[in-house]
Amino acid sequence: MTLIEWDNNLYSVNIEKFDNDHKKLLQFINDLHQAMMQGQGKAKLSNILDELLDYTRYHFSAEEAEMQKANYPELENHKKLHKELTDQLHQLIEDYKAGKKEVSIDTFRFLKEWLFNHIQVVDKKYEPWLKANS
Ligand SMILES: [Fe+2]
Ligand SMILES: [Fe+2]
Repeated sequence: MTLIEWDNNLYSVNIEKFDNDHKKLLQFINDLHQAMMQGQGKAKLSNILDELLDYTRYHFSAEEAEMQKANYPELENHKKLHKELTDQLHQLIEDYKAGKKEVSIDTFRFLKEWLFNHIQVVDKKYEPWLKANS
């Protein structure tokens, strides 16, 4: 499996700061893949996962603040989905650190879905509203 490439047509929400955040999240996932392929140790992989979680929290808060400001009607549902994603990632990291789970190609596939499914299905929906109401 190769690294994931950003594709504007597929992934852009046409709001530059959020596209930049999404690219950064993608970068962490690719970094994780690379570190794994290079056979890096657990400390390094844990570090990247922690950075991914931190940046995810930051990004979700930024989106929620923007949606709130624009009185986005889907805010509550979007927040709920953010919480589920954060919990999933947090659990994955805890399991990895506790030795209950390995970081593998499946982890990489999971994270790819985890990120892009949300962008394409959920984030893309806020685009017209935020554009019309910010
Ligand atoms: Fe997002
Ligand atoms: Fe989102």
